[in-house]
Amino acid sequence: MLDKWFKRLIIINLLLVFVVIIAGSIVRVTESGMGCPDWPKCFGKLIPPTNERQVTWHPEEVYHNGQMIIHNEKLYTSLNDFTSNDLFDQSNWEVYTKHNYATYNPVHTWIEFINRLATVALGFPVMAMFGLSFLYWRRDRIKILLSFFVVFLVGFQAWLGKLVVDSNLQGQTITIHMIGVFAIIAVLLLLLFRARRKAKVLVDGLFKNLALVSLIITLAMVIVGTQVREQIDEIAKIQIDRNVWIEQLDWMFILHRSMIYLIVALNLYLIYQAHKKGYLSKQWFIIGAIICIEALLGVALAHFGFPKIAQPLHLLFSTLLFALQFSVFINMKANKDLITSF
Ligand code: HEM
Repeated sequence: MLDKWFKRLIIINLLLVFVVIIAGSIVRVTESGMGCPDWPKCFGKLIPPTNERQVTWHPEEVYHNGQMIIHNEKLYTSLNDFTSNDLFDQSNWEVYTKHNYATYNPVHTWIEFINRLATVALGFPVMAMFGLSFLYWRRDRIKILLSFFVVFLVGFQAWLGKLVVDSNLQGQTITIHMIGVFAIIAVLLLLLFRARRKAKVLVDGLFKNLALVSLIITLAMVIVGTQVREQIDEIAKIQIDRNVWIEQLDWMFILHRSMIYLIVALNLYLIYQAHKKGYLSKQWFIIGAIICIEALLGVALAHFGFPKIAQPLHLLFSTLLFALQFSVFINMKANKDLITSF
């Protein structure tokens, strides 16, 4: 019973991580990141404003401590509960200085808010999993350690999320955020593997090493891809025409695009070897299919004017690729008696 519930919680957490990834990417594509200027509240409220009136100054209006408004193109935070007079009284307000983004767009606000809800929703099963892991105190303490690591990483991501908002979505934090997401997936997969207690697949030592190299190359591809994405974020601020975005990228994009050849070649070789040595499983075909889909989505982005839908999908499939390669890798055990014959 305990094992069953623990496994379920791990799977729920994994699914929610993917939901959070997609939600985050939709926030980006729709440019809703600053839809809530503060964190964890949104315009100083638990439920975000639904119309402009709620975020602008009006005479004879009740304002609550911490509430935010946009006035003369600046963001203000209320310093106490009060009812406004006929004139804007600066002494009731403090200018919000963490960033100078002061726009209200209800669609952006609500997309960002739903994204935050998805992140909060992840917090509950993560805590539940951590709590349940203590029942393994006698049998398997590693589960407690790994569950704690997931809690820590999710907390770190939330803190980083706040930093991203406070710094008006500064570049490097986004890359660290992405690495954090991959770390959460990796630890959850390790937990799932432990919970399932399936026998490892015995493989040739060189095969296992090459599978590790392939996993590292995927990670490198993701990190370079995130740098490309950061450049796109900057370009998009000044260039509306999505068709010309690609021309403005530097060598990072050339590197990212070229690495696909290495990924394809290495994985084809691995699939061929797995077939020859008799450990080809359906996961390898899925890995191959995901690489093809990723390449096609990349081509769509680069040559067909950055279709909006391709952006979240490109991110989602890169995450799926990593998850699958990682789980195939941790399921392998190098057979010391097998002398490689590649
Ligand atoms: C297995 C292959 C690939 C992987 C794992 C991968 C991974 C990634 C990742 C993680 C990002 C960052 C996405 C984000 O933060 O939203 C990215 C961005 C990008 N990638 Fe790839 N990629 C692959 C192949 C390609 C190929 C072949 C091309 C071009 C022909 C390409 C073009 C791009 C472009 C243009 C971006 C920027 C997208 C944006 O700003 O939304 N990618 N890639």
